[in-house]
Amino acid sequence: MAHVLLFPLPAQGHVPPFLKLAELLSRAGLFITFVNTEHTHSRFLASSPTIDRLAGQPRFRFRTIPDGLDEEDPRLFVHFLRLLESLRTRSREHYRELLVPEDGHDPDGWPPVTCVVGDGMLSLALEVAEEMDIPVMLLRTSSACSVWAYYSIPKLVETGDIPFPEEADMDELVQGVAGMESFLRRRDLPGLTRHAKSVADPTLKFLMTASENLARGRALIMNTAECLESPVLSHLSSICRVIYTVGPLQNLLQNFGSCRPDQDVSNSTAASNSASLWQEDRSCLKWLDSHPDKSVVYVSFGSVTVVSREALVEFWHGLVSSGRPFLWVIRPDMVEAGGETAPSELETAARERGCLVAWAPQEEVLAHPSVGCFLTHSGWNSTLESIVAGVPMICWPFFADQQVNSRFVGEVWKVGVDMKDLCGRSVVEGMVRKVMDGGEVGEELRKSAAEMSHMGRIAAEEGGSSYTNFQKLVDHIKSLSS
Ligand code: UDX
Repeated sequence: MAHVLLFPLPAQGHVPPFLKLAELLSRAGLFITFVNTEHTHSRFLASSPTIDRLAGQPRFRFRTIPDGLDEEDPRLFVHFLRLLESLRTRSREHYRELLVPEDGHDPDGWPPVTCVVGDGMLSLALEVAEEMDIPVMLLRTSSACSVWAYYSIPKLVETGDIPFPEEADMDELVQGVAGMESFLRRRDLPGLTRHAKSVADPTLKFLMTASENLARGRALIMNTAECLESPVLSHLSSICRVIYTVGPLQNLLQNFGSCRPDQDVSNSTAASNSASLWQEDRSCLKWLDSHPDKSVVYVSFGSVTVVSREALVEFWHGLVSSGRPFLWVIRPDMVEAGGETAPSELETAARERGCLVAWAPQEEVLAHPSVGCFLTHSGWNSTLESIVAGVPMICWPFFADQQVNSRFVGEVWKVGVDMKDLCGRSVVEGMVRKVMDGGEVGEELRKSAAEMSHMGRIAAEEGGSSYTNFQKLVDHIKSLSS
């Protein structure tokens, strides 16, 4: 009997794609144990009915382990290496016990774990499973293009692009990422490489370890589709034995497994599949209803980005001056303390023309007909959700994989524009006008976005590449328990 244990990094960008994959594997009839840290689980539980819904399904259970940090620790993203270290040292035994109970008895009488799907950014998931002789597959929740760029870090060190030379020309093309030599500039390299002072930098080392781990898994699973990233995937296949691209997972969820008689999937809409650390403010959907088609700019910078007050004010000016209505997600912890605040007349103008929420039901927002473009930080989940919805993007990447993703959006897929490193008010205003107005650029972007959305949909339909890859993945997992 196949029993899969899934273990994501405890973060908004990682848990929801893992939940989607877990639900799909459950629909394929496998036993599912989903591991969350206690802290993350309680937050998801408080704001997402998805967790309750999944926990109520047969052969699906959640298990929690402590992350080793104090209860009152704010677990800020800037300290994520500390969280990882705490997990590595203090959560190890708890995880080991979930994999193989010491007394040899599963509390629910379930069969032993036959396969782990671990987060590719969480070495612990892989290491302990290997120690216990349990086969491991890795899920990387980001784009293939960024995974390949991370993998190329040693090469970039060799070519002298990392650490960034003093007064580096940020527009210079870099030669260290195979297949991207003609368009990847220094400024498009993963954000974390910008600040590394030497190759001994702990963040660089963390990224390099995650890349080295890729070859250790039985397979690499990715929330992308062959049609979106085929050239990069062929590079990645030189280091990973088997790659299963099963994205967009949100599309696959709509298509796969609805024929199993013992499961009710009639509720599997975007609403019931969303999972968040924050409570969604659904009032913004009503606000969107009151606007004409493709008239609203949706603005969100994801779950961890922190914006300076100065940058916030520049966006504020730019958005108000563009004359377009906007829906803006401003998380309570998103704005840096101190610095300039928005002038009150701007705030009034923003409230008249905009809708501000602390957290939105993003997949539903992007699917709403009144949304005309997405001003995004280019996190992979947001990028993919925008692609699925066929909404053109304006990219303001902040860190990590976002710099690479936004270059692909602007230069390779041509489904948006990239304003990387330039968030001045006139740039924001100009970009919004360019994308939203009926001119040639906007038209072209809308056309490409619609085409790409169509390609993603086809990939996840029966017979499509992601649908077929998912079936192969299930067969592979089953073969590990026979
Ligand atoms: C992090 C990294 O920052 C990102 O670069 C990486 O690709 C994944 O991990 P995050 O910044 O949160 O993630 O961005 P993103 O990947 O876009 O994920 C954000 C998720 O939160 C999306 O699934 C989005 O739908 C959801 N969201 C965001 C909401 O549901 N409501 C909101 O108001 C904002």
